[in-house]
Amino acid sequence: MSSAKPAVLIDHDELSARITALAHEIRQDFPTGQLHFVCVLKGAFLFLGDLIRAMDGHVTIDFMACSSYGAGTSSSGEVRLSKDLDSGLEGRDVIIVEDIVDTGLTLHYLQEILQARGPRTLRTACLLSKPSRRKIAITVDYIGFTIEDKFVVGYGLDYAEQYRNLPYIGVLE
Ligand code: IMP
Ligand code: MG
Repeated sequence: MSSAKPAVLIDHDELSARITALAHEIRQDFPTGQLHFVCVLKGAFLFLGDLIRAMDGHVTIDFMACSSYGAGTSSSGEVRLSKDLDSGLEGRDVIIVEDIVDTGLTLHYLQEILQARGPRTLRTACLLSKPSRRKIAITVDYIGFTIEDKFVVGYGLDYAEQYRNLPYIGVLE
């Protein structure tokens, strides 16, 4: 592993400001009632934490995990569910919370399996999006930042399980 620190792409203050704005935007779309956040592990755990702390009103959370990647930086195209939710989604207002949408294959898969569980509404919030890499057209209702085709780490995102603890989004060089 290289000892060089990843270069800053989005610093902590920018992340905080944007995530607070996203939380307000989501709450405006659902002014009353309980929102149920489904966090996609592991990459989205810090985004979830900051998003719900910036949000008023009633909130519940659940976690799921799936993998489409090995230890490298390129998608295998195959998605596998490795941890399912603890509770059902029927009749709930559900927001999928994901770290980054790249090819879109992971989110496409998640949106399909969660929609089949009968939520009242199903929306998706992604901290980052790399639209130039999309292999499948998907709807992402809330996007934190649109970025170029660079492999990014930090603030929950990893490269081979490293760098999740960086307080900013960085680029590996
Ligand atoms: P997709 O299925 O190609 O859209 O890939 C989505 C998943 O790949 C994300 O949830 C991440 O876990 C991972 N991923 C994609 N791009 C990056 C990146 O630049 N850095 C770290 N993880 C990434
Ligand atoms: Mg992920």
